[in-house]
Amino acid sequence: MPRKILLDCDPGHDDAVAMVLAHGDPRVEVVGVTTVGGNQTLEKVTRNALAVATAIGMTEAPIAAGCGRPLVRTPELAAQVHGESGLGGVVLPEPVVALDPRHGVQLIIDTIMAADPGEITLVPTGPLTNIALAARLEPRIVERVREVVLMGGGQHIGNVTPVAEFNVHTDPEAAHVVFNEPWPITMVGLDLTHQALATPEVVADLGAVPGPVTDLLLSIIGFYASAYRDVRGFAAPPLHDPCAVAYCIDPSIVAAEPVPLDVELGGHLTTGMTVADFRRPAPEGCHTKVATVLDAGAFWAAVKGALVRLQNPSTTRAGEPR
Ligand code: BDR
Ligand code: CA
Repeated sequence: MPRKILLDCDPGHDDAVAMVLAHGDPRVEVVGVTTVGGNQTLEKVTRNALAVATAIGMTEAPIAAGCGRPLVRTPELAAQVHGESGLGGVVLPEPVVALDPRHGVQLIIDTIMAADPGEITLVPTGPLTNIALAARLEPRIVERVREVVLMGGGQHIGNVTPVAEFNVHTDPEAAHVVFNEPWPITMVGLDLTHQALATPEVVADLGAVPGPVTDLLLSIIGFYASAYRDVRGFAAPPLHDPCAVAYCIDPSIVAAEPVPLDVELGGHLTTGMTVADFRRPAPEGCHTKVATVLDAGAFWAAVKGALVRLQNPSTTRAGEPR
């Protein structure tokens, strides 16, 4: 049985790759997509989600727009990395997938409450605004969710400040709510995602799979690589968001260890820092984990496998003959 995941995202180049991986790998099933203002405005990232879903044939999962701004702070946006459209340099089709009329927060709640307890995994890859509001609006979701596997934070490093990562820094109050609910949380932060580097060798290997989704993926990585080189000084760009999906696909791709986690809200230099307490072994019942080591070979093999499945007309998404 595939693991049922709900993607809460702000596409965004790496969010788009997370969608490709999630839709193309039979070990997970995307049961919904919600959008949140982050990398770009809500309007732009929602259009991008619909267009990417159209381009990759992800037509069954409902897609709903969530919150347009953080709970407390002024929106940051990340045009320098993702462009004015949120998917700079990427040519997308007109969306044929319709937007679900519900608010994204309502879609999250409806999906979890309609499923069996422990069935749904939430995979947020943007600011945590929608997830925090869902937990406040319908507290029963907290004990019904299997796990929250989020891309955000970092146990030792940041990117928008020396210690704070973009998704958490954009809405630290929302992250504080999410980290302090007792559901199982795995934080797939920068310490892990900086191991998922789209090197020229990786790009050449992915490019060997012919087809339109590969073309889309290569244009995504192309723009993102130059932005990461110019803005952040990376020789090869880290594809953050698909790492959270990879953990859901197969936890052996992403090693994680339990550690207490919290979010700094009041710091002068440290607002939005995710604080991991490594001073002693995690206490019994610790509900938070941090991702530590990526099996990069298995990760890129999963991305390549998704490309193969999504572009081979003689196989279903599950890789079985039609
Ligand atoms: C995160 O910030 C966003 O720009 C990316 O999409 C990713 O989710 C990395 O810090
Ligand atoms: Ca993102």
